[in-house]
Amino acid sequence: MNTYIMALDQGTTSCRCILYDRQGRPVSTAQKEFRQIYPHAGWVEHDAMEIWSTQMGVAQEALLKINGTWKNVQAIGITNQRETTVVWDKKTGEPICNAIVWQCRRTAEYCDELKRRGLEAAFREKTGLLIDAYFSATKLRWILENVEGARKRAEAGELLFGTIETWLIWKMTGGRVHVTDYSNASRTMLFNIRTLAWDEDILRELEIPACMLPEPRPSSEIYGRTDPNIFGGPIPICGAAGDQQSALFGQTCFEAGEVKNTYGTGGFLLMNTGEHPVFSENGLLTTIAWGIDGTVNYALEGSIFVSGAAVQWLRDELELLSDSDQSEQMAERVADSNGVYVVPAFVGLGAPYWDPYARGAVLGLTRGANKNHLVRATLESMAYQTWELLQVMARDTGQQIVALKVDGGASANNFLMQFQSDILDRPVLRPKCIETTSLGAAYLAGLASGYWKGRADILENWQMDRTFKSNMTSEKREQCLKGWKKAVKCVLGWAKR
Ligand code: G3P
Repeated sequence: MNTYIMALDQGTTSCRCILYDRQGRPVSTAQKEFRQIYPHAGWVEHDAMEIWSTQMGVAQEALLKINGTWKNVQAIGITNQRETTVVWDKKTGEPICNAIVWQCRRTAEYCDELKRRGLEAAFREKTGLLIDAYFSATKLRWILENVEGARKRAEAGELLFGTIETWLIWKMTGGRVHVTDYSNASRTMLFNIRTLAWDEDILRELEIPACMLPEPRPSSEIYGRTDPNIFGGPIPICGAAGDQQSALFGQTCFEAGEVKNTYGTGGFLLMNTGEHPVFSENGLLTTIAWGIDGTVNYALEGSIFVSGAAVQWLRDELELLSDSDQSEQMAERVADSNGVYVVPAFVGLGAPYWDPYARGAVLGLTRGANKNHLVRATLESMAYQTWELLQVMARDTGQQIVALKVDGGASANNFLMQFQSDILDRPVLRPKCIETTSLGAAYLAGLASGYWKGRADILENWQMDRTFKSNMTSEKREQCLKGWKKAVKCVLGWAKR
């Protein structure tokens, strides 16, 4: 009987399930988008129950496609949108409100207050993060303050908190296992990345009861088994990592200095910095990459809040295209963006600006600008933002990145990859499997369950699809970047009262 590793990839806009074989090839895939809830400008929510049912739906579908049963699955690995905050009732398993999504800006003013009180350096030293509404801590506090009865119930031990992997593991084990992995814990702004424990000072400062927090655990070990009612039998769940760290693992960036860039809903550039945290002077985050076999690896991260989501905006809100794939053809129909710049700061800007009050803009419009220019400018914005991250990463590490390994849905877009290489003046390396986020989770679970014996097995699986090489003149590059920098300046602080 063939056995596979099941990777559950719970992203910001869709749930996926992919079954991987020993060569790291996807043998069955199922995917479904779920609802995005925007109650106010700048707020973003998800229904955690809908995430749960959608995730289980795609898992069943992926199994059905190969006529498989639980017996064909040796282990499950989970990877997830990070920071998104769920609070639920321990007895009923019902969330007490919608999940607050990582993109949500509702706690920006509270973050300003923490900064005014001079807490930034201490938080940074402990958690590796800047104080920002992006991370789970202030979202969790918001729920405790604003959902009726929440604080009292949390203090009485009736409520549990989790990021999405914690929520899914708890649900899949029938409420028996309440854990998080170090990589996800390191995105909460409550976790001390040196001691690998929840930080008591921060918990006190934010008035968060420790009893509602999950137990932090390594990223590759058996957390528990699925309730037999779900797949018909117990399957070990033995890998978990935040999606960006998981992609770093899936790209086999095991050594210090290795870098990958993922083009998903957001865009995330991560460098493995080895067993010691490296702190940035220029707005990058220090985060835990993974914990495996008693060793913790750290990463330096540049976070772009809106990358592929900008193409979804063109599709869903502007209705300029019916399928994101069309963006490649549309962009290639025109020779350039005709001076148009799109700054997709829909939820503020992340690295290196960290401006929660920035908002999106389209600049440089002239009478001849058409929808193809707008689509092209949107794709180009993804490359410009990545260029900015590469600049600061080089400054922080003193290391020039010679080539960029890419992955994520939008890395399939040949126009974008060519433009990325043109703007970076560096080769862009695209592997055959661009679903490295889910592949990383499969590897973490497969290592813990003995499906793969060690990292050497996995390294053999990485195969190149295509290398993109720059063919833009330096004058043209300078001119493009000049326009981008001017455009970004226009949107900073826009929504500040
Ligand atoms: O930190 C947010 C990140 O984990 C979201 O990832 O893949 O949904 O863009 P993605």
